[in-house]
This record gives sequence, C-alpha cells and structure tokens, in this order.
Amino acid sequence: MGLIFDTHAHYNDTAFDEDREELLGRIFENDVFAAVNQGTDIPSSLWSIEYAGKYPQMYAAVGLHPECLGENSLDELSRIEELAASPKVVAIGEIGLDYYYDIPRELQKEIFIRQLELAKKLSLPVNIHDREAHGDMLDILRRYKPAGILHCFSGSVEMAKEVVSFGMSIGLGGVLTFKNARKTVETAREIPLEYLVLETDCPYLAPVPNRGKRNDSSNIFYIAQKLAEIKGISAEQVLEATKNNAQRIYNIT
Ligand code: NI
Repeated sequence: MGLIFDTHAHYNDTAFDEDREELLGRIFENDVFAAVNQGTDIPSSLWSIEYAGKYPQMYAAVGLHPECLGENSLDELSRIEELAASPKVVAIGEIGLDYYYDIPRELQKEIFIRQLELAKKLSLPVNIHDREAHGDMLDILRRYKPAGILHCFSGSVEMAKEVVSFGMSIGLGGVLTFKNARKTVETAREIPLEYLVLETDCPYLAPVPNRGKRNDSSNIFYIAQKLAEIKGISAEQVLEATKNNAQRIYNIT
C-alpha cells in the first residue's frame, strides 16, 4: 500500500471499461492509500458506493454535478440524501457551479446550495467544482462556510486564502505540472501545506510527463514531485502530509 491519497477520481468513466479491475487491483496494491470516487449524478453515485464496497482503498462521494442537472434534480436530492447514509460515503460531491456550459445558473445555484445544506445536516465534507464561476462561488462559500475541498482550484491566490480561512482545503491536480500553470503554482506556494490535498480528476488532467494520456491515481506521484519542488521538501513528505490532510477532511482512519 502506498502513500497516495487521490481525493477526486471518476473510475466509473468509460475510459476505464477495458481494464478497470486490473488497473484498480494494481494501483491499490502498489501506490495508493485511498481514492475517493466522486458522484456526478445518481448512477455514478451508486457506482461509487458499489466500488467502495469492492475495494478497501476506495471511498465514495455522492452528489449532483452542475453539468448533470435537469428537470428531476430537485427530486433527486432526496435520493442523494438516502445514498449518503451508505457505508463508506465520506463526502457530498462533486457539486458546484459551472458557467462554462450553458446550464441555467439559478438552477445550478439552488441545487448547489441545497447540497451544501445537506452536507452540513449530515456532518459530511463537500467536494466542490468551480469553473468560470468564481464570483458567485465565493459569495456562496462566504455564506455557508462548508467543510471540504475546492477541487482543481483555478481561482486567484486571494480566493484560495479566503476559503482556507474558513477551514476549507485546496485540491491540486495535474494542472500544477503544466507549463502555463503560473497561477496554480503561486497558489501552491502561498497556501500552507496543511490546507493542500492532491487529486487526479481521472481519467482527465494527467500530469506531465503523461499529459494528454488517460490519468489514474498513480500519476499523483508527479504532482507530489512538483509540489515538493515548490515547497522545498521531499516528494515523500508531500505525499505523507497531503494524505494526512485528506484523512482528516474525509474522516478516514
Ligand atoms: Ni471531477
């Protein structure tokens, strides 16, 4: 068992259909301490729970992603609440706002807020997606001050500092290793290690040197190496610290 804690994965994605069990068996045996598979709708939330039952290192988040919203989303919230009671559900996620796609913003905000309230009621952390919605996101976070992770963080250093002041953590993924990642590198430098966690968002966003290929949790080693370089410590120290942070956030012993 390794030191890697992948706080945000999508192993239900069809990109893994050909070799999913072989891959999970291998990375869980060699590299990965834990991976939290995120739900984006009801089927993927159910999938996450099923696979958390199959693999000791797999944990589940359940939630409705802004890209997956529709007419039935309000009704689906009660199903998410039921699913959140399943064993090994450690968070409400992946939830948030996505203004890149043309999805009604009022609906996005309502479903996001309802899930923040649900997480609070259930004493669960959240895993948050924020794409081109930093202003509204920050307004809502200031109001609700949730516990959890802002995943694949793409905001300013000022925004990172503010959400960390509520006790939230910043999720860093493959983007940290990209050539054009100036803002993300600055965030990684300015935010104390105790508020940083690592993630893949696999199958997407593989770090350099595997950029463009299918991603999986074993690639987190490269993100840890980059963060180690930024912080002036060893990759092992980064993996150990971010693993401890993730265990604390997701309440995994
Ligand atoms: Ni994701």
